Amino acid sequence: MIETGEFDFENRVVAPQVIKEDDNDFDYSLRPKTLAEYIGQDKVKENMSIYIEAAKKRGEPLDHVLLYGPPGLGKTTLSNIIAHEMGVNIRVTSGPAIEKTGDLAALLTSLQAGDILFIDEIHRLSRAVEEILYPALEDFAIDFMIGNGPAARSIRLDLQRFTLVGATTRSGQLSAPLRDRFGIIQRLELYSPDDLAVIITRSATILGVAIDPDAAQEMAKRSRGTPRIANRFLKRVRDYADVMGNGRITKEIAKIALDRMEVDGLGLDSLDKRLLGMIIKGYGGGPVGLETLASAIGEEAVTLEDVCEPYLMQLGFLARTPRGRVATELAYEHLGLKKPGSAANDKQTTLF
Ligand code: ADE
Repeated sequence: MIETGEFDFENRVVAPQVIKEDDNDFDYSLRPKTLAEYIGQDKVKENMSIYIEAAKKRGEPLDHVLLYGPPGLGKTTLSNIIAHEMGVNIRVTSGPAIEKTGDLAALLTSLQAGDILFIDEIHRLSRAVEEILYPALEDFAIDFMIGNGPAARSIRLDLQRFTLVGATTRSGQLSAPLRDRFGIIQRLELYSPDDLAVIITRSATILGVAIDPDAAQEMAKRSRGTPRIANRFLKRVRDYADVMGNGRITKEIAKIALDRMEVDGLGLDSLDKRLLGMIIKGYGGGPVGLETLASAIGEEAVTLEDVCEPYLMQLGFLARTPRGRVATELAYEHLGLKKPGSAANDKQTTLF
């Protein structure tokens, strides 16, 4: 539950990143296993299915793949699907989990031909670890230094040909040499409400929960383009349906449940509203720099950038300009505020 007063970011119901309760059998059972079951991201799916089929036809491992985009869109799910479709094993790790070069060397040498190594948050690899990765990606080999001083020698160890699937929310933070070593780069986009409604309905079917189509739409509209949030809502709304109704999720029950979770009609919660409110009331609608904004509302800049901004920009509530963030007229309207001088602005735009 979202607490008012002190904001509990870690357990924010609309957090797109994994929160403690997401990591259980329930969530694994909802994950699609094949590309055909994977809903949305049509461009990525079409491209990946060609690349997978071609690699299989040639009997080669898939080229290295970089998946990027906001959190919660299914980058890990997609990696598992790629492994399933290729008929290979997958090893899952993350940038921060690989602390030493030896950790990565141990992982790489354990891979069998064609296996997938999935590194989540790949932008968080240390420089030293990243450098081990370059020859591994390019030549399927790692170079070890043995000894010290003048007697030091480098030994090359051959690896099996494998596929790296890297995932990141911030492709801009990836170093150019690393980025250049991915043959396939795919951007995942926020999902449309229609796709999310299909995902919610599919998940409800797997769970054996009855749901009305307009209830699925209502939940989809508030899920911030993010399947992880949609599935989390399903879990909570099901509780309301079991307690307040006969177990069937109706639009009315969905609305009551989501309103009680303090998620508004478009999926905004109190953090989004604080962000927009600060731009509007604290900085006259902007522009205001991200760091200034973050310290004014007491949140980390990366949180605002990765979590709030993609959705607020998709809604057209927020614009990024070279001089900082700006709240748009739509944001004022949604918050029930009047944008000062908006009529004058309108007039001016018609002049050009
Ligand atoms: N669950 C989470 N993401 C999904 C997707 N893209 N398609 C189907 N089910 C999902």
